[in-house]
Amino acid sequence: MDEATYYRDHWVEVEPERLNAYTEMFKWRPEMEPILAPADLKAGQTVLDYGCGPGGLMLELARRAGLAGHVHGVDLNLEFTGLARKALAEAGYGAATTVHHVTNDAIPLPDGSVDRLVCKNVMEYVPDINATLSEFRRVVKPGGLAHIIDSDWGMLVVEPLGAAKLNELFEAAKLAYHTPHAGRLLYGGLKKAGFAKVSVRILASADVRGHMLMVVQNMVSYAKIGGKIDPGRADSMLAEVRQSISDGTYMMVLPQFLVTAQA
Ligand SMILES: C[S@@+](CC[C@H](N)C(=O)[O-])C[C@H]1O[C@@H](n2cnc3c(N)ncnc32)[C@H](O)[C@@H]1O
Repeated sequence: MDEATYYRDHWVEVEPERLNAYTEMFKWRPEMEPILAPADLKAGQTVLDYGCGPGGLMLELARRAGLAGHVHGVDLNLEFTGLARKALAEAGYGAATTVHHVTNDAIPLPDGSVDRLVCKNVMEYVPDINATLSEFRRVVKPGGLAHIIDSDWGMLVVEPLGAAKLNELFEAAKLAYHTPHAGRLLYGGLKKAGFAKVSVRILASADVRGHMLMVVQNMVSYAKIGGKIDPGRADSMLAEVRQSISDGTYMMVLPQFLVTAQA
């Protein structure tokens, strides 16, 4: 494990259990509609899903662009790109979609080639946010939109851990997030990249049932890999969160920045 590149390596190589869990977790669900609404997606558009993962969101983008449109997906992980291609073909969108496996941060599309660019929960993992936002500006057509949905881990709440314990856990897990405060950097970053109009909304809801437990499980496993916390202490934090789900006192909030920019 190379600590300096772990934020990227843990996406290039995803263990089989995490792969299956992500495929389930990243599926599109109708209650996610508000995160996509500002992207103003329409039939016939050419759309890019940057960091498409196993294709859950990409499939929804393909439904919206329809067979007259085209959706490109780009991802670092080879298995994810294979799963996305398979899911899209099975749903009848094989010919209206292209999934690109990439090994660097250049987008394999020409300048001004997409009407819409959607990027969900990827920016904290890119090595240089400003370089990636410049790539976004390059590929979006004049008048087109880039719509980024992302977290800012400085705004994470996981009860009953409290601020001090959560901070201790996140500090130990930080190697997995290149830019943990990505959310707050997007507005200014998109302006600096040359987008004309940029708008920001924040969407926050409280998970009180444990749907987002995987986020804490991942943090604990990253923290243990990083070696900056006693593994038993990290496990006891996870046990505390699990117990609170059983006894009904758990709450998790991870606000999402929805940042939409016109080229
Ligand atoms: C948290 S997942 C989000 C997946 C998907 N966007 C979603 O929300 O359902 C992050 C995704 O970004 C991909 N990724 C991370 N860094 C990347 C990069 N530099 N270029 C392309 N994809 C990247 C990962 O492989 C992974 O599929």
